[in-house]
Amino acid sequence: ALISLRQLLDHAAEHAYGVPAFNVNNLEQMRAIMEAADRTDSPVIVQASAGARKYAGAPFLRHLIQAAVEEFPHIPVVMHQDHGTSPGVCQRSIQLGFSSVMMDGSLKEDGKTPADYAYNVDVTRRAVEMAHACGVSVEGELGCLGSLETGQAGEEDGVGAEGTLDHSQLLTDPEEAAQFVTATHVDALAIAIGTSHGAYKFTRPPTGDILSIQRIKEIHARIPDTHLVMHGSSSVPQEWLETINAHGGEIPETYGVPVEEIVEGIKHGVRKVNIDTDLRLASTGAVRRFLAENPSEFDPRKFLKASVTAMRDVCIQRFEAFGTAGQA
Ligand code: G3H
Ligand code: 13P
Ligand code: ZN
Repeated sequence: ALISLRQLLDHAAEHAYGVPAFNVNNLEQMRAIMEAADRTDSPVIVQASAGARKYAGAPFLRHLIQAAVEEFPHIPVVMHQDHGTSPGVCQRSIQLGFSSVMMDGSLKEDGKTPADYAYNVDVTRRAVEMAHACGVSVEGELGCLGSLETGQAGEEDGVGAEGTLDHSQLLTDPEEAAQFVTATHVDALAIAIGTSHGAYKFTRPPTGDILSIQRIKEIHARIPDTHLVMHGSSSVPQEWLETINAHGGEIPETYGVPVEEIVEGIKHGVRKVNIDTDLRLASTGAVRRFLAENPSEFDPRKFLKASVTAMRDVCIQRFEAFGTAGQA
């Protein structure tokens, strides 16, 4: 059944687990997530970015998610809009049937320029008013994703800020977070702790100076009743990088957010964990390997099946590690 983010995260807080939020763009990702949820008896959050709407088209995306609800009626599903850049974008998603939206007011409407606090409060409060009137949940964001190693904002051509950010923008301030939640009434709050979108998060396995789980603890201590959200939470599995590079890929050395660190965050108020890159890496690795090992094969269902299986196994691992398994 389709449920709101608030319903799911309240349950997650009560039972002390976290929920991975996987990005969907196509049938294969949707199947992978739902088969993993079915096998582990997990509730799911599927989220669609602006890029996903551009790729698949809004009607296909909507019906893909509704098809998941229809085929797996016993699994609670949150249909979430990822990184909305204005109240208008959120409104259109609500009209499409999403049960949850993210109003990312940490950035201006271009999705790139860091916004100030007053702007963020204004757009987020407006989105919340509209969404709550429709029974839809809202995730806000305070602080900008970006690297504490380099001060660089998000991915080059992905979702996220551009340019250089200072330390105070890269780590959400606990006191400001408390004010923000009071002023906006968001259902969940995305925070900045040194992660960024995409595969190139850290040049070395992260330590506390570049990935601040400590900051999560400080924010949770200040606003214990607010559901916290971690963006840029792919773990960038080294074995998938090796598989990709062993079969013609060229991905330089890079590191993601270790699963153990996310599990530590879940002990301190993190309830939603955004993951996109890990499924992309698993899918690409599986397809590259399949085609290299089966050079005469040309039926796309064969290599896409390999992709689904690889993504499904990543989802199962996250559901189990985050305590989502068994909670459907
Ligand atoms: O927020 C970032 C997600 O990874 C979505 O990426 O805009 O390429 O679909 P995308
Ligand atoms: P990753 O790029 O680490 O998978 O993060 C995805 C995300 O935060 C989507 O909003
Ligand atoms: Zn994100």
